[in-house]
Amino acid sequence: MITENEWNTRFLAGELLAAPPLHVVRKAFGFMEQPAASPVRLLDLACGPGRHAALGASLGWQVTAVDNSTVALDQLRLEHPQVATVEADLEQGFAIAPAAWDVICCALYHQPSLWPGIQAGLRPGGIFVGVVKLQGRFAAQPGELRAAFAHWEILHSSEDVLAELIVRKPAGEDC
Ligand SMILES: C[S@@+](CC[C@H](N)C(=O)[O-])C[C@H]1O[C@@H](n2cnc3c(N)ncnc32)[C@H](O)[C@@H]1O
Repeated sequence: MITENEWNTRFLAGELLAAPPLHVVRKAFGFMEQPAASPVRLLDLACGPGRHAALGASLGWQVTAVDNSTVALDQLRLEHPQVATVEADLEQGFAIAPAAWDVICCALYHQPSLWPGIQAGLRPGGIFVGVVKLQGRFAAQPGELRAAFAHWEILHSSEDVLAELIVRKPAGEDC
């Protein structure tokens, strides 16, 4: 397992700092229509230095980003102070408030225990974008991510080295 300290070392060396947002995340954000009265609320889980949180913030969204790497969160706060940050271990039952988010992003982090919370945490019509590796350490099984959200509207799904998924929560669904 990669420990938090290992991630801190990698982020101190500049990993992901200048990386552009993943294409699939850009695509997912494009599916989100601005609610009439309030900014889009984005939750970025396992955000790293925050390339996707930063993208949401650049769109005027209200963004909360979660990670357990203090280095990554410091880097994110320095560059994008408007992003709210939460330092938390996502393996330890992280609580996501129900129907609180318009968009949830979880890129390059495989933690199936989060998926029920993600499903409950999105408001109906909300968008989830997930990316998991299918090879190497922490790989998901082929089809695993898609199967977990199979009852939602699938806006994009592809599998190669990575599994990418964009889904919309059905209107009227509570969880
Ligand atoms: C491959 S990076 C992806 C970062 C970001 N999502 C991106 O695409 O740029 C994986 C991230 O997961 C975070 N992470 C790993 N284990 C974690 C845990 N138990 N709780 C919270 N974050 C964790 C790491 O600190 C790292 O930032």
